[in-house]
Amino acid sequence: MKSLLSNRLQKLLASMQLEEKIGQMTQVEKNSISPEDIKKYAIGSVLSGGGGNPEVNSPATWQAMVHAYQAEALQTRLGIPILYGSDAVHGHNNVKGATIFPHNIGLGAAQDADLVQRIASITAIETAATGVHWTFAPALSLAQDIRWGRSYEGYAQEPEAIANFAKAFITGLEQGNRRAPEAILACAKHYIADGATMWGSSKRIDRERILVDKTLENAEMSESMAMLLEKGAWMIDQGDALISEATIRSHHLPLYQAAIEAGALSVMASYSSINGAKMHGHHYWLTSVLKEELGFKGFIVTDWEGVDQLDDDYYRCVVQSINAGIDMVMVPFDYKRFIDCLSRAVVAKDVALERIDDAVARILYVKEQMGLFEYPYAAPERLADVGSAAHRAVAREAVRKTATLLKNDANLLPLKQTQSVRLMGEAADSIGHQCGGWTVSWMGEAGAVTSGTTLRQALKQRLGEAKVTYDPEARATSMAEVGVLVLAEEPYAEGMGDRHDLALSETQKTLLARARASCHKLIVILFSGRPRIITEELTSMDAFIAAWLPGSEAGEGLADVLWGDYPFTAKLHYHWPVSMTDIPLTPTAKALFPLGVQ
Ligand code: BGC
Ligand code: BGC
Repeated sequence: MKSLLSNRLQKLLASMQLEEKIGQMTQVEKNSISPEDIKKYAIGSVLSGGGGNPEVNSPATWQAMVHAYQAEALQTRLGIPILYGSDAVHGHNNVKGATIFPHNIGLGAAQDADLVQRIASITAIETAATGVHWTFAPALSLAQDIRWGRSYEGYAQEPEAIANFAKAFITGLEQGNRRAPEAILACAKHYIADGATMWGSSKRIDRERILVDKTLENAEMSESMAMLLEKGAWMIDQGDALISEATIRSHHLPLYQAAIEAGALSVMASYSSINGAKMHGHHYWLTSVLKEELGFKGFIVTDWEGVDQLDDDYYRCVVQSINAGIDMVMVPFDYKRFIDCLSRAVVAKDVALERIDDAVARILYVKEQMGLFEYPYAAPERLADVGSAAHRAVAREAVRKTATLLKNDANLLPLKQTQSVRLMGEAADSIGHQCGGWTVSWMGEAGAVTSGTTLRQALKQRLGEAKVTYDPEARATSMAEVGVLVLAEEPYAEGMGDRHDLALSETQKTLLARARASCHKLIVILFSGRPRIITEELTSMDAFIAAWLPGSEAGEGLADVLWGDYPFTAKLHYHWPVSMTDIPLTPTAKALFPLGVQ
């Protein structure tokens, strides 16, 4: 790796002390470190986790926050800039006021690589405007078991489609010149086979203990957590994939090959295991395959506390992961303990200095490639780009291109321009439901979490007050000619969204029954991060649209296709299961709607 370095970086590396090298390998969560400690420990990277926002959340406060850490880094002896990372997975989604695009599962249905590239380019512009130069995206997850709470982070059920969109996304982030101030670093994740884990194999949370003893005094053990666990939370996320090397090589590895070819310079290790062996300590897949066989020149970062799961003893966790090929550790909290362990490991020769030098060379190489030495700060005037009208227009385009029309009896859609409607469902007026998880907070939440347009607002604007009645609970007793009912999953992220059963809830079924009874024609729109089981309910719908998790511009984008300003063009890219027995999805499983349906 060292031979790849520019003269400047070779000199820099040669002048570094061990503490400075270990600092570069350390990534800390922003709330866990004061800017002064960035300087003291020569920290190489800071991140905002899901919802890691400044107290007042705006583009300007974000920029000020990131710049405060950067200023400390630039005052260190060597002045190496930090790389600030955040999960900009559907737009710069932690930031209030940023443009929120559809989650990847929707983009897969749009089947439009050019659109994905433009979205990535806008995401990079908005992210870089706040001083953040690294997004933990794209997820190359090939979700097989859609009970998995991360299904929506993946693009499609077929590896070829994922590879195609991942390439477009990475190309978009780089803006044709990754040293440019508005380009940001991609992170292909989660390496490898994160979507292939088995239901019931997750050990992330001691489910039994929490379910049995609900009185334990710990935030994690709260009532709502217990309720989610009963529904299946943490059953599959971070679990074990029983999978042959041949299948990994045919289905999962090509995705990373494509990402590397497209220019990805960071890869995140998966929390999950392969045949019982955790990826964070897996020398074969991290070093022999990714770095040596595929020739990956960038660096490998861990997931959040990912090394902690390797062993009961933290020292051994650190030694095993670094020796396996991890270059940067998303600690994210107790950085002093991490630095202490890795320093002792080098002195004790449990980790060779050459391994440290290789990791640091990779990190410096990426920082230089990303133009960080030239542009450590964002220009203040760039803040106006965040959530701009031009960016929102692309998000609106994405909504209409991802809305998948799966039933349309007697060509009910598109509606006549003058058609008045009764709108139903709380989600028809909730930005939070249309955006899903990873929106302002980690799990996302219902309500006006950020700026955007709900379907209710868009229809009012399009049709005028008089032509839209809003009946969130479908309580009206009069018959409407046309009703639009929006059903939605409650927002979730990661293992918190694992579910035993994907049937509609009893509340949703009751709402649907009431809506059906009060409208001559009924259109149902579903906001969800995966197909849900609707086989029985489908008969009571005249039209059905899977809108996935369309993001901040859902209202106008959906109105555009409902009223026929644009045609529906999305195609189903997942088998839509008939019942729970069709999950995990296989190409031969029964499907209510097969792949490719339009
Ligand atoms: C997730 C990653 C994410 C990281 C930082 C982890 O819990 O698994 O996908 O990038 O947190 O927020
Ligand atoms: C953080 C996320 C992280 C998750 C891991 C959350 O508290 O906000 O970024 O991915 O924890 O479990």
